[in-house]
Amino acid sequence: MASPPPEDLTRLIVGYWTTQSIYLAARLGIADLLREGPRPVEELAQACSADPDALYRLLRALASVGVFAEIEGKQFQLTPLAEPLRSDVPDSQWALAIMNGEEMFPAWCNAMHSMRTGKSAFTDLHGKPLFDYLADKPEKARVFDEAMTGIHGHETAAVLDAYDFSGIGVLADVGGGNGSNLAAALQRYPKMQGMLVDLPHVVARAKARVEAAGVLDRCRLVGGNFFESIAPGADAYIFRHIIHDWNEEECLTILRNCHKAMSPTSKLLVIETVIPPGNGPFMGKFLDLAMMIVPGGKERTAAEYETLYTAAGFKLTRIVPTSCEVSVVEGVKQ
Ligand SMILES: C[S@@+](CC[C@H](N)C(=O)[O-])C[C@H]1O[C@@H](n2cnc3c(N)ncnc32)[C@H](O)[C@@H]1O
Repeated sequence: MASPPPEDLTRLIVGYWTTQSIYLAARLGIADLLREGPRPVEELAQACSADPDALYRLLRALASVGVFAEIEGKQFQLTPLAEPLRSDVPDSQWALAIMNGEEMFPAWCNAMHSMRTGKSAFTDLHGKPLFDYLADKPEKARVFDEAMTGIHGHETAAVLDAYDFSGIGVLADVGGGNGSNLAAALQRYPKMQGMLVDLPHVVARAKARVEAAGVLDRCRLVGGNFFESIAPGADAYIFRHIIHDWNEEECLTILRNCHKAMSPTSKLLVIETVIPPGNGPFMGKFLDLAMMIVPGGKERTAAEYETLYTAAGFKLTRIVPTSCEVSVVEGVKQ
């Protein structure tokens, strides 16, 4: 039976109770503590230095939404929804829960600044933009890299399935973070060479992951700043969730630097959610708010990409949809 609108709205209003409860469980490391099987709450509390009654109430609440389950004797166990809260599983969401709770949530609490000014609430809160803030905080920066794989990792296979990369000899992933996206492309295309471009501290951390994926011998790691220049020599330049971090002027600088790096036949491949018209549900509409509030960027419509590409000297050739919300916005030099 459908609930009356005020009750539906109540659930939406208190949505952050769930968000922050998941964050608390992640920071206390509960899913990792349950890796070997069910454990009594007293034992869990001792292992993570929590108050036993407070922890019981947290886990009881989370169990009511399917994250963990209580069994006899005040014991808790993992559930399919709790499993990805482990920090050591391939599709782990642990880092995303930590980043969300510790960096994003405080910025959202300051989001009226964005509403009044259209500018980043995160920058207003910390006195410096997101990527400058992360630069001198190695542990937070590492969590951010892994959080990106948590939120965007499922897009990797969807893009490789939807877009034909054959014929691309050298693929650059600009702002490629921990390298997992590029590594997957190199695994899919065994003759392809890769170029991972990101800030020097990010690329230094990425090396181990690229090596573990068995593709380091085919991958150049290039530390740099895309506002200054982008390394030439690639047949295609991927920008996955880069353009949405920045305002128009900043995007033009990045794209013009890419333009300079590209040969006449290279392709520009921006991978982002492209906001559709209408009122339908689309996570990109909330990602758009997150981009405004945290780095100070935005998600764009197809028309907005067309305008941006033209201003940067590109022709938008096609927008290739994938099985998830992101599309590949393909461009070539004008
Ligand atoms: C939102 S993350 C996206 C990461 C990755 N492409 C993905 O899809 O998961 C943005 C990336 O841009 C990188 N970045 C930010 N500023 C940069 C700059 N000035 N030059 C190069 N990379 C930069 C960050 O370090 C980060 O890895």
